[in-house]
Amino acid sequence: MTTRHGHERLAEPLSAVADPRGGGSVLATGRVSGLKLAEDGTASAILSIDGLPGRAAQALEAEVASRLRAVTGVARVRIIQTSERHQSGATPETDGLAGVRHILAVASGKGGVGKSTVAANLALAFRRQGRSAGLLDADIHGPSAHILLGVKSRAGASAERRLIPVEAQELKLLGMGMMADPDRAVAWRGPMIAGALVQMGTGADWGALDILVVDMPPGTGDIQITLAQKLRPSGVLLVTTPQALAVADARRAAALFRQLDVPVLGIVANMARIDGPGGAALHPFGKADPAALGSVLEAPFLAELPLDPAVTAASDQGRPLATGPVAQALDSVAARLWQALETRPAR
Ligand SMILES: Nc1ncnc2c1ncn2[C@@H]1O[C@H](COP(=O)(O)OP(=O)(O)OP(=O)(O)O)[C@@H](O)[C@H]1O
Ligand SMILES: [Mg+2]
Repeated sequence: MTTRHGHERLAEPLSAVADPRGGGSVLATGRVSGLKLAEDGTASAILSIDGLPGRAAQALEAEVASRLRAVTGVARVRIIQTSERHQSGATPETDGLAGVRHILAVASGKGGVGKSTVAANLALAFRRQGRSAGLLDADIHGPSAHILLGVKSRAGASAERRLIPVEAQELKLLGMGMMADPDRAVAWRGPMIAGALVQMGTGADWGALDILVVDMPPGTGDIQITLAQKLRPSGVLLVTTPQALAVADARRAAALFRQLDVPVLGIVANMARIDGPGGAALHPFGKADPAALGSVLEAPFLAELPLDPAVTAASDQGRPLATGPVAQALDSVAARLWQALETRPAR
């Protein structure tokens, strides 16, 4: 929850900070935007570092942070650096995502809650509904789409050295697990990861697609920010287990995406129950409370998925299930997401 009052209190001290490139205060030039003061005392801001040499950018960030920290009611400060210059910079002619109608990120914050499983099976659900669909596995260090979908082949390259997605299970697919040497990425750091994401996103030949699902890596850090900036998803689906620990991470992820202007289109509670024989259900991660989840994450609750051993086995074998409770629930999630995406302005 943010307040207008909070925004004004944060803006005031920044009106005295000049943009190092001239033109007035950092607020007047738009260098600092997205000021927010959350109820827990977290002040956040977006700082554009365009045209600033590294040292100047760091100095400005430090100054903005210290001014915000001095505001009454601010317990901590979070500044997100962005750079237009480092965005894809792709023109419509070279943007391999130009023919993609919607890009949907699947994210969680917490690791291991089932993002990849949901992303892959959701892409298949879109396909079942007659949409042309793709899956971009954006987890550079821990790719899994190739395993989940049983992909053995590697991505090709066009004469212009653009990546050509692999086609399997009637989906277009790209991910580190489909590259010539997937192990090479293990030691990659920030800029190389960003480069790989650009190559697999705007730098690849995705052609015409109704929807591209992006399986995000866990966390709420630089990689997620880079992804949101480079791929500019139309929205994000949050996956969480019902456990408070996972929901807290999902909440951080929701806040991050909102700050980056990517709307949270829905929530899925994964592994929310185990259906036992005779209709009895176990709740290994607690019971999902749709109303509570919806209000904490400020987004529509779309479905709860059971922990289905058949899904675990199918994932390991690379043969996802088109039927069963998980597939069925994702069919309805896909339909609702499609509706939400179609009512949004085109990319
Ligand atoms: N609904 C489900 N039913 C059964 N098994 C599931 C379900 N969802 C996820 N799993 C299993 O849980 C484990 C974690 O799932 P997955 O790899 O999709 O999570 P993740 O959030 O993508 O993890 P990471 O953060 O490492 O990327 C896997 O072993 C997967 O097969
Ligand atoms: Mg994953």
